[in-house]
Amino acid sequence: MTTQTNVENYYRNSELKAFDDTKDGVKGLVDSGIDKIPRIFHSPPDEFDSQGNFKKPLIRIHVIDLDGTDEKGLRRREVVEKIKAASAASGFFQVINHGIPDGVMEEMLEGVRRFYEQDPEVKRKWYTRDGSKTVVYNSNFDLFRAASANWRDTAYCNMAPKLPNPDELPEACREILIDYSKRVMSLGRSLFELLSEALGLDSHCLNDLGCSEGLAVLYHCYPACPEPELTLGASRHADYGFLTILLQDHIGGLQVLFENQWVDVTPQPGALVVNGGDLLQLISNDNFRSSQHRVLANKVGPRVSVACFFTTGLVPLPKLYGPIKELISEENPVRYKETTVRDYSLHYNSKGLGDTSALSDFRV
Ligand code: OGA
Ligand code: NI
Repeated sequence: MTTQTNVENYYRNSELKAFDDTKDGVKGLVDSGIDKIPRIFHSPPDEFDSQGNFKKPLIRIHVIDLDGTDEKGLRRREVVEKIKAASAASGFFQVINHGIPDGVMEEMLEGVRRFYEQDPEVKRKWYTRDGSKTVVYNSNFDLFRAASANWRDTAYCNMAPKLPNPDELPEACREILIDYSKRVMSLGRSLFELLSEALGLDSHCLNDLGCSEGLAVLYHCYPACPEPELTLGASRHADYGFLTILLQDHIGGLQVLFENQWVDVTPQPGALVVNGGDLLQLISNDNFRSSQHRVLANKVGPRVSVACFFTTGLVPLPKLYGPIKELISEENPVRYKETTVRDYSLHYNSKGLGDTSALSDFRV
């Protein structure tokens, strides 16, 4: 390494540390009235790989109506086919008539806004990088290892398999977080049934495997950005769990990478975004995809979203996951090594977001 690079790294590290030490996140920067973003947030130019930005997208992210899928019948078979096609292509789709009332989704987003709009003194008490805490709120979980910081603050907590003591959840969103998580768990179980059928398996297969046992809830705040062309709300990444159910507000900015083109996941009132994660791609032996996606920064904001990951994360469970036996054949031989959910999560966390695939390290 040249001395020049050493010096640059030194300044970068002290800027990262100074930012982290404020415990006020990106929202704190914006509230202080800055009109230029600090250079720690500047994305490397290739992050924007503009070649994909001007062509017409090859696909649309479909909105699938879940109405009438409770009973086995023609309607359910139609929906299973749609979910199968979407999961095999981009891995992303949206659902409506999913059973979670509009009012509950609105209150969930309101709860997130209340959390981020708290007095900085109060909010700072939640700021931590200690993963053993019930609620981990910070800006950029991979701040000190990512190539550039994202224009985003995030708080997360694990709501299953063990529901945390409610007293340990922030008052600003405590009640709705518990109510919303329960409803997402129930929707998740229904989706795993449909996904099982879409893989040609018994409907209870993925739930029996434990795919819906754990739930990590991440609530994000993407503050308004004065120079959105220089940074990203979230760098490209694939999700680390089995499945993600995402609630986003009306602002937009989420894009999925499909055949080298960025495709918008356009907000639609009442809809939830569903996408397969790395562990689903692994156990489905590549039948279903965990696609890379990102969030653009925006002059408008704050944008808020709630990402619910079905995974037990770092809970030390011994169960090994590998490609499901029924999905292995001569034409489709085993493509992945077995792993525990914890080992996969640790590996993913150590890599951080950005242009590296944690899943590819598990290929045989
Ligand atoms: C995530 C994610 C997208 C969004 O949390 O992994 O991709 O719109 N979130 O917040
Ligand atoms: Ni994601």
